[in-house]
This record gives sequence, C-alpha cells and structure tokens, in this order.
Amino acid sequence: NKGNLLDSHGREHNYLRISITEHCNLRCSYCMPEEGIALTPKPHLMTAEEIVFIAQTFVGLGVTKIRLTGGEPLVRKDAKTILQKLGQLGVDLSLTTNGILVPDFIPTFKEAGIHTINISIDSLVKEKFNRITRRNYFDTVLENMTLLLREGFKVRLNVVLIKDFNDNEILDFIRLTKTENLKIRFIEFMPFNGNHWDKSKLVSYAEIMYTIQTEYALSEIERLTDAPNDTAKNFKIASYAGSFAIISSVTNPFCSTCNRIRLTADGKLKNCLFSNSETPLLPTLRNGDSILPLLQHNLQSKKAVRAGMDDDLKFQNPELFSQNRSMIAIGG
Ligand code: GTP
Ligand code: 5AD
Ligand code: SF4
Repeated sequence: NKGNLLDSHGREHNYLRISITEHCNLRCSYCMPEEGIALTPKPHLMTAEEIVFIAQTFVGLGVTKIRLTGGEPLVRKDAKTILQKLGQLGVDLSLTTNGILVPDFIPTFKEAGIHTINISIDSLVKEKFNRITRRNYFDTVLENMTLLLREGFKVRLNVVLIKDFNDNEILDFIRLTKTENLKIRFIEFMPFNGNHWDKSKLVSYAEIMYTIQTEYALSEIERLTDAPNDTAKNFKIASYAGSFAIISSVTNPFCSTCNRIRLTADGKLKNCLFSNSETPLLPTLRNGDSILPLLQHNLQSKKAVRAGMDDDLKFQNPELFSQNRSMIAIGG
C-alpha cells in the first residue's frame, strides 16, 4: 500500500484525522467565535456508515493511524458505533476530547483498542478554565482525567498557551507531572477564522523553555526521543513521573514530516490544517462512484508548509487564515 498516498513533496500520508461532529459542549474562545458557527445541515454530514467506508478506503491505501476529533467527538449520538467500527480496522485509533463525557465511554474505548487519549485543558484554575471555555465543567474534566489514568489509559493534556492568560501556569502544569504519569503538551496558539489571533498573544517555544528554566536547571530537563511524525518536541524533568512537550506550529513548523490528511464532518478532505482548498467526497460517494481519484487529487495540491503560509509575514496576514474554517469545524 505504500506510495498510494504520497504528495508532490514526497511525503507519505498514513494518518487520517476525522472530525465526526461540528458540535461541542464547550465554547473555547481560541477555537470558535462567541456567536458560534453556521452548522452544516444534517443531510450534508457524513453518516456513521460513510465515515467507516471512507476510513476503510484510506486504510486500504496505507493509513495506519486514525484520530477522531470534532467539535467534541463524544457528543455525537452514534459516537460509540463509530468507535466500535473503526476499532475493527486494525489501526492505531485515538481521539482528542474535552473529557466531559468520558465516563460513559470507558468500556467502548477499551473495546475499540484505544490506549492514549488527548484531553484539552488550558488552565488549572477553575475560574480561568470556565472563562476560556465559557461553560462550567472544570471539576468534571479533572475528575475524568483521573478516571482515565485509573482505568489504565495514557493521558496527554493539550494546553493552548495564550499570553497573559495562562502563561503563568506553565510551571504548575509541569509540577503536575512530578507524581502523575501524564504528558503535558504546551501548544502555540494558532490563527483560525474568528479566534482573534494576534502575534502578541503567542507564547512561543522559546518563551516556554525560558520559563521552565527559571525553575529547573538545564541538566534536569531531559530531551526525549520524538515519535516519527510527532507534532511535539518531547521532554521530561529527570526525576518526575510524567513528561512534557511543546507543539510549535507557529515558530517552528513540522511540515516537512507531515503525514496527516483531514476529513471534516461534512465529508471534505483537507490536506492541511491551514488549507482552505477542500475536496468534497459525499456527492461522489452517494452517487456510487469511486472516491479514489479525489483522494489523489487532494493530496497533489498539498503545499510544502502550512498551506503556503511558509513565512512569518504570511502567517500574520489575516486575509490568509480568515478564509479557512474555525478550528471547531476542522478538529485540530
Ligand atoms: P498525535 O496523533 O499523537 O500526533 O497527536 P496530535 O498532537 O496530532 O493531536 P491533537 O489533536 O492532540 O492536537 C494537538 C495540537 O496539535 C492541536 O493544537 C492541533 O491543532 C495541533 N496539530 C495537530 N495536527 C497538526 C498538524 O498537522 N499541523 C499543525 N500545524 N498542527 C497540528
Ligand atoms: N491553536 C492551537 N491549538 C488549538 N486547539 C484548538 N484551537 C487551537 C488554536 N487556535 C487545540 C485544542 C485541542 C486540539 C484539537 O486543538 O486545544 O486540544
Ligand atoms: Fe501538515 Fe499543514 Fe500541519 Fe504543516 S501545517 S504539519 S503541512 S497539516
């Protein structure tokens, strides 16, 4: 199957990220505009059968890893069915979730062979967490994180850092890893439609490392080996149980090793997080025709770096990213 999903820059694509819903039970300000987004009418969304069929097609072409995203994947009514079916494809299956609905899904996760779960949590201060999510679920998310660890899952916490909002919590997050076998992933804030991104709100890789070094000597900060195609640079404090990582999509993109293809909830292929040239699959699929040429076509138009926003200046041009979707409709 190797070589079927090569792009014109020689990158092999074996990782499919599927957004299964545009809905979410939170309203994170860096992910969606306050007023919400225009939701796709249900007939234009992928059914569970369509998701499984498209996933199977990709697996046939060499995909070995699938991550479910959203919106919040677990709010979808047939999320369990989807997890069960995808669990039978023999791929490395995982999901990125806000953690709120996790307790009801523990048996399904186990049955589907899920080992690692990424949970978004941007503050350890209840009032701040509730402010950024515009809802009131802080205690639930913390309890559910503990539940997952107790049930034997590996847990990675996604922390999107925003200047003067949560950058003073970097060391608190690291301290969590002293006794808990968690991985904290600090994420550079990225621009998407309607999220009021501004370079001044960015907390960069360099700043994160600087802050960590105010408390830990360089000799205590171990550089770990990154997984192939990892978005993150991985570290740990030598004597600590857990680890931490930095995802530097803005100041140090990892596009040269990109192996990702995205499928949106409305059945469109997106060859890059930042690309707004999308390929709709549903009309062809529902017509009974082969979607294979569409997959090849979509990959062929993939740009080398961040959908063409290859330098910092382009990345700061709102005209470029305001034509993209809001993060809630991409899935990260
Ligand atoms: P793995 O599947 O283990 O590699 O996890 P992940 O880090 O790709 O997934 P997750 O959904 O937890 O995303 C964490 C952060 O990485 C989010 O901010 C995502 O938007 C960002 N991210 C994920 N994939 C990509 C990518 O292909 N490009 C860029 N620039 N950022 C990405
Ligand atoms: N910049 C960086 N990461 C983001 N996420 C959502 N919006 C942004 C953004 N603007 C992260 C969420 C979630 C993951 C899928 O993407 O925190 O964990
Ligand atoms: Fe891949 Fe685009 Fe992310 Fe770069 S920005 S790693 S090309 S998805």
